[in-house]
Amino acid sequence: MRPEPDFLHEFVPGKSARTLLLLHGTGGNERDLIPLGHDLDPGASLLSPRGKILENGRPRFFRRLAEGVFDLEDLKKRTHELAEFVVSAAAHYKFDLKKIVAVGYSNGANIAASMLLLRPEILSAAILFRAMVPLVPETKPNLNSKRIWIGGGAHDPIVPASNTQELVEMLRSSGADVTIRFFQSGHELTSDDVDLAREWLTGSVD
Ligand code: MLT
Repeated sequence: MRPEPDFLHEFVPGKSARTLLLLHGTGGNERDLIPLGHDLDPGASLLSPRGKILENGRPRFFRRLAEGVFDLEDLKKRTHELAEFVVSAAAHYKFDLKKIVAVGYSNGANIAASMLLLRPEILSAAILFRAMVPLVPETKPNLNSKRIWIGGGAHDPIVPASNTQELVEMLRSSGADVTIRFFQSGHELTSDDVDLAREWLTGSVD
């Protein structure tokens, strides 16, 4: 039996109670971030879905109208769909719904941020690489117990640093404990991102 509603996905059982929800970037798939997940936390279970939207044949988690301009109705719908998938996957694979840490890159980081804003009960923490403001929620979520680490590229041509900073303010004003780091890089993920995110994850989150 596969979890419903279904996404193509990989699930790798781990030894600890934590599950990393791995969310790939545009053009990625469910296998892309498995090595990153092992690298960030070798003991965690890994749940890695493939985004259902195809943009010129490249998988994404929600539609966009142009680079950085999102189809907000689709984003909301896809955020709830992904949240329901995580809930059914937790029941199916028997992992703890209270110990899920999202790890998203680019488009995956943006849907993870959207999930924090619209479905905060799904995630206990999040690592967001190259994230931007996905949407402005109608009601402020309660993010009091959430810990979030964000890695930005100081020279990112897709995500302006000011937009990442706006996301940080939005999450903090809802009560989240947010750590933000900027790297001397563009949109690409660097080994410095991974090293600092790992340190943060192993040092401060259940
Ligand atoms: C997005 O569409 O989520 C962002 O522009 C990042 C990207 O996927 O290029």
